[in-house]
Amino acid sequence: MSDDKPHAAGNVDAGDTSERVGMAVLRERGLEPEELREKLIDAIGAEFTTYYYYTNLRMHLAGHEDYKEIAEDARLEDRAHFELVAPRVYELGGHLPNDIRDFADRASCPDAEVPVPYDDEGGRLDITELAAEDVLEVLLEAERCAIRTWSEICDMTHGKDPRTYDMASRILQEEIEHEAWFVELLSMERDGEINPAGHFVRGEPGDAPLSTNRRFNDSA
Ligand SMILES: [Fe+2]
Ligand SMILES: [Fe+2]
Repeated sequence: MSDDKPHAAGNVDAGDTSERVGMAVLRERGLEPEELREKLIDAIGAEFTTYYYYTNLRMHLAGHEDYKEIAEDARLEDRAHFELVAPRVYELGGHLPNDIRDFADRASCPDAEVPVPYDDEGGRLDITELAAEDVLEVLLEAERCAIRTWSEICDMTHGKDPRTYDMASRILQEEIEHEAWFVELLSMERDGEINPAGHFVRGEPGDAPLSTNRRFNDSA
């Protein structure tokens, strides 16, 4: 009979809750679940801290309502990215750092701080002198770090871990959109160049069309 049901049993003993088949199958395919899990914590550390930093960056785009709206979409989508992947850390036998400082320190991208403006002689200017182009450049480079991060996770999981791959590829697609948004805005703001992103607006602020948890469970 058991030959008819080859997946009825495997390397994990029946009823053993100290092991997870969801991790064992990754190992069988040559992917170390612990290594992936730690990389995911680093990656969502960057999503979470970027969500925070984008709040401040958006504030400093005061007077540029169109830029603020786009920064807001990118900000809320980073929160969606954090929330999409956080459960995966637990499925892989891990947990989020208890101390938020540890979480921020291990983020896989640099802090997207508000840049301090300087004059031509290198003197520090008041924060009110900050130019929109300086903020847009920080936003652009944060998106580029996210693209590199999620591309690496796609490469690690492709053909081995369909669940993480699906999450990472959804996020990657949105990060690529975010880069295009800020290429367009920075090109025009700094250089007067037209470099279209091909984008208009999200349906709702931070719609996260591919990565929001809600759609993951949407039966409609
Ligand atoms: Fe993100
Ligand atoms: Fe992003």
